[in-house]
Amino acid sequence: MKISPLIALALLASGGIVAREIPQNVRDLYNTIKDKGSCSDELATGFRATDNGPDTFSYCGDHLSDGVIYIQGRGGALADMDVDCDGVQGGPQDDGRCSVGRSPDYQDTTAFQDVVAGYNAGIQDLNAYVHPYVVFGNTGSKPGWRDFDPTKHGVQPLSVVAVVCSDKLVYGVWGDTNGDDGNHPMVGEASLALATACEGTSMSGSNGYSQTDILYLAFKGDDAVPGAKGANWTAADYGAFEASIEELGDRLVEGIGSGAGAARVPWTAVLGAVLMGMVWVVI
Ligand SMILES: *[C@@H]1O[C@H](CO)[C@@H](O)[C@H](O)[C@H]1NC(C)=O
Repeated sequence: MKISPLIALALLASGGIVAREIPQNVRDLYNTIKDKGSCSDELATGFRATDNGPDTFSYCGDHLSDGVIYIQGRGGALADMDVDCDGVQGGPQDDGRCSVGRSPDYQDTTAFQDVVAGYNAGIQDLNAYVHPYVVFGNTGSKPGWRDFDPTKHGVQPLSVVAVVCSDKLVYGVWGDTNGDDGNHPMVGEASLALATACEGTSMSGSNGYSQTDILYLAFKGDDAVPGAKGANWTAADYGAFEASIEELGDRLVEGIGSGAGAARVPWTAVLGAVLMGMVWVVI
């Protein structure tokens, strides 16, 4: 069968895009981080990917000049992906995967529910079946608990997070934080919708992805926030929501490796232009 461009377009528009290939600059960043083994600028450390695993995972600032904060352990370990089902339940996409063996830490609201509702964009909270959200940052009041507040480093609630998983690049938003309901402060978690895009439909409230090879890139700055109008918050499914933040995600990702976290134009280019101008004047 030959698929006409029109049908292909319709397929795309209906949410057919689930993930995209990893652009070369992101691939390079992924390999650089992995090869380095662990980060040198630990913004906060002492977190775990699994309850019984090492408490050596950190939020890393090594690539703040690329505009991103990421999570890394030691020995090349990145983060894993537990499944978060917090937020609104039900809806047409609810296939029960968040209710079977739902994690005991289930909460009926996500961390930025008030911001979501404040958008007046037609939803009261995120829905883990629909919205690809990343759980990032740690809060807790237990004695000695490790916490990390990404906003102190310029990452805004509900800003775009790029996730490199299983040879794909998917976009989500920073939609929830890790609490202190468990025994240890954890990292590496995403909504069911995002986990499904990464690892398929075997993902559920009771089954996450345990390999520590996932790179979460949380972008700093107001530019990374789609806001009320910049995303389709009432999207019927993951595909429609993800597509609505694709353009923003692509733009943020393009800045990686170009020093664009600080300025769009590298200083060497400016200096070069000035020198060229001087040459002209001399001639
Ligand atoms: C959001 O996505 C749905 C499909 O899931 C579509 O029907 C709707 O028109 C979209 N809204 C906007 C504002 O793009």
